[in-house]
Amino acid sequence: MSDQHSKARQHSPKDGTPRHVAIIMDGNGRWAERRGLPRAEGHRQGVEALRRTVKAAIEIGIPYLTVYSFSSENWSRPRSEIADLMGLFKRYIRRDLAELHRGGVKLRMIGERAGVDADVVALIDEAEQVTRANETLTLVIAFNYGGRAEIARAARRLAEKVAAGALSPGEVTEEQLAAHLDASEVPDPDLLIRTGGEERISNFLLWQVAYAELVFVDAFWPEFGKEQLDAALAIYSGRDRRYGGLTQRSSR
Ligand code: FPP
Repeated sequence: MSDQHSKARQHSPKDGTPRHVAIIMDGNGRWAERRGLPRAEGHRQGVEALRRTVKAAIEIGIPYLTVYSFSSENWSRPRSEIADLMGLFKRYIRRDLAELHRGGVKLRMIGERAGVDADVVALIDEAEQVTRANETLTLVIAFNYGGRAEIARAARRLAEKVAAGALSPGEVTEEQLAAHLDASEVPDPDLLIRTGGEERISNFLLWQVAYAELVFVDAFWPEFGKEQLDAALAIYSGRDRRYGGLTQRSSR
């Protein structure tokens, strides 16, 4: 077994609770449209769902939670919707930072900071700085994020080291690439949940989900909370994770 595979295995706690859950929070717009509400209201309710889910993750004892909040592709949405999403993001950090901090939440952002408004970047820096020593839950927010772009950034960082003579081309391994991703200290997700009924990865954590279990739920993101998280965890605990090897049952 390669180091990468043994690393992935270590990430499954014995009690069946995933160490890292990643979520594609999809369906805000459709939730709103079905109720005759503006899409912005769907995003506002999406923030409430995020609050419920963070609380539930802490209660359950999940150490890492990553959420897809704004993709590199979301810039193609109408300006007004982008402004709504930026506003919500800033308000979420401003309003919830103290409470998240009190609750022992460590905030981490992944994604490209270049091109993001300076006030948003300053808030992200502050949130990471204030919460850096917390240990109850690491909440990773993917913001201006694309999986391919993240892999390209890691490759660029490695290329710079090779060009500087700090690394030889032969030392460019899976482990080295993983170590140069945006949040390399965070273990790979064990479980990826996507709400909203679509069954796609949409350029989310492409490298890291190599061995994740995928659970797609029909509920729109604003409907998500502890009950839906528990249901996804129940599906996860029934899965047989093999990492390309034999089933645990047959290898016993
Ligand atoms: C997908 O719904 C969701 C998003 C593009 C953004 C998710 C954002 C939030 C939950 C709120 C802000 C985030 C934070 C971290 C405070 P969609 O608009 O694609 O829904 P649709 O597929 O139904 O159109």
